[in-house]
Amino acid sequence: MTPDPRIKSATQSAINDAASVLSAGRLIAFPTETVYGLGADATSDTAVASIFAAKNRPTFNPLIIHVPDIESAKRFVTFNPIAVKLAAEFWPGSLTLVLPRKQDCKISLLVSAGLDTIAIRVPNHPVAHALLKRCDLPIAAPSANRSGEISPTQAAHVAESLNAKNAGPEVILDGGACPVGLESTVIDLSTPTPTLLRPGGISSEQIESAIGPIATAESEQPDAPRSPGMLSRHYAPNVPVRLDVTDVKPGEVILGFGPDAPAQSANLSPTGDLSEAAAHLFAYLRALDAEKPKGIAVMPIPDTGLGRAINDRLRRAATPL
Ligand code: TXA
Ligand code: MG
Repeated sequence: MTPDPRIKSATQSAINDAASVLSAGRLIAFPTETVYGLGADATSDTAVASIFAAKNRPTFNPLIIHVPDIESAKRFVTFNPIAVKLAAEFWPGSLTLVLPRKQDCKISLLVSAGLDTIAIRVPNHPVAHALLKRCDLPIAAPSANRSGEISPTQAAHVAESLNAKNAGPEVILDGGACPVGLESTVIDLSTPTPTLLRPGGISSEQIESAIGPIATAESEQPDAPRSPGMLSRHYAPNVPVRLDVTDVKPGEVILGFGPDAPAQSANLSPTGDLSEAAAHLFAYLRALDAEKPKGIAVMPIPDTGLGRAINDRLRRAATPL
């Protein structure tokens, strides 16, 4: 297969070109430490609208804004003491804070799909940082995949998912494999109780050790998730996925974990390391799906630390259509 011409090694000159595309109101894809993002100028309604079109994303599902540092974030949202503490502790990094939008905020209203809050983060990736500095714009960026599909952790995944036919990114900056491999943790700080909306790259344990106990969206309002992006089927391969499997059925391939996984399995981490497993998760799901097996059988994965975010993604991948 010839490589996709939109994929460019993330040199400074490619980053400058991508920044020009963004400033002109068009789409690019770029690496972050979590997953690749499909980026647009967050202050432009038409640019933001083209993200929803390219992803075929329901417009009620709001987007995350990326900025280079906390000072930039403070131009758009109102910080409270807990937000200051979490930003100091975890930014740059895989933590997204949902905060009240400022009155004079220039971010497109389409970004937050009618909510009076904005989800914002400072990514911890040199390419994302260089891009944000160069274009000097807040970048709205969901994961760079069609809605419902597995999130991309490599430039080639973006090219596969957003092929030219659906008016995807003009440039895909290639920064190699994403080191974290799972989307950011989303925490809502716009209400008195900090509430976990999406488990992700920073574990609840890490957050709680900084600010004390947090609530989870599920325990609060089971029928009306506050993060509209938490649709039940998501990150889904084309073939069925079964979880916590101890007996494999004929025709299934195995997504393994730990030293006891069968030798023929795709093992997320032979040593049982959850960070390593997170970094491999989406790429391995894609590779197994491409073999077109009868199904993917996933071995049990411990539900602590990053394991919670891994299991969250796997449960969504396993939800039938
Ligand atoms: O790691 C990540 O966060 C990646 C990279 C590219 O930064 N981005 C990402 O974006 O995963 P996306 O759009 O796929 O996920 C955004 C999540 C969704 O669950 C959405 O519902 C939630 O954040 N969200 C966005 N704005 C919100 C808001 N104002 N209130 C509540 N939830 C919000
Ligand atoms: Mg996504």
